[in-house]
Amino acid sequence: MSGLAAGGAVEQPDSFAFDGEYGRAADKAVDRYPEGRQASAVLPLLDLAQRQHGGWVPQAAIEHIAGRLGMAKIRVMEVATFYTMINLAPVGRYHLQVCGTTPCMLRGIGEVFRAIRDETGIGPGETSEDGLFTCTEVECLGACVNAPMVQVNDDFVEDLTYENFSGLLRTLKNGGELPTGSLVGRHSSEPEDGARTLIDVPAPPPFDPAVVYRLNGAGAPVAAGSPAPAENEGRPAALDGPRGGNADALARIRGLGPKIESALHGIGIYHFDQIAAWTPEEKDWVNGALKLGGRADRDDWVAQAAALANAEAGEGTA
Ligand code: FES
Repeated sequence: MSGLAAGGAVEQPDSFAFDGEYGRAADKAVDRYPEGRQASAVLPLLDLAQRQHGGWVPQAAIEHIAGRLGMAKIRVMEVATFYTMINLAPVGRYHLQVCGTTPCMLRGIGEVFRAIRDETGIGPGETSEDGLFTCTEVECLGACVNAPMVQVNDDFVEDLTYENFSGLLRTLKNGGELPTGSLVGRHSSEPEDGARTLIDVPAPPPFDPAVVYRLNGAGAPVAAGSPAPAENEGRPAALDGPRGGNADALARIRGLGPKIESALHGIGIYHFDQIAAWTPEEKDWVNGALKLGGRADRDDWVAQAAALANAEAGEGTA
């Protein structure tokens, strides 16, 4: 068995250059970025170099990419060593990237490691003697809903058990095809015993071309002629303009910035005492109309406005 250590005793080629389809793909990746920002293409280039070089990135490719992108070699190495998907030493024909993060761990990835050990004789960081398998433990691969799972080369296999993954490894050893997706026949990430939601969706009413439809507030079609929603119900009293031509500095209210201040002006709110007088319904109306996401409640604008209005009244009479 051999390790997956970066560099080390691995036999390295003297040189590397992209060619053929990989060269064209590399050009395309670099061209995506504006002049002076070519370093952004480092990860696609590492991936392309790995694919061109049979599954791993030699040091010559690191140097080539560094030169091509105007980066220091160490910067390219930093990226290459950060991502587990970049291999700096040869890997087996089937690279088993085994997810060891919590959901997969709780759902039995230990049994998958046991199957790998029993069928191939290797553990994390090792390659089998026949060069067929390399095992790498990786962090979450984003398929937790079908945990435990393993990425084999570019494909995911999911819902693994000791038995089904042992069978998969034997299939690959015998030259069979890699099955992908759930190994228990689950469709996508639906519950294992079939869909439980969105199975009783009522059929929409038959479409009547004679009726003009519009959408109600919840997005459901309503035949024209139905009463329109009371858009102004709950709307606080508005002023045509600030009293005496001078609006209060509403942005003094915590959580209310200049943008919201100007939106409030747009609905006729200019003064602290107007906000202080909002009823809960009026506050909800403003919240919805200006899409405030609950800020008025969170920062209690009504109480703040009342305090500011009182302070201003006190200053006015002092
Ligand atoms: S924890 Fe394994 S895929 Fe997310």
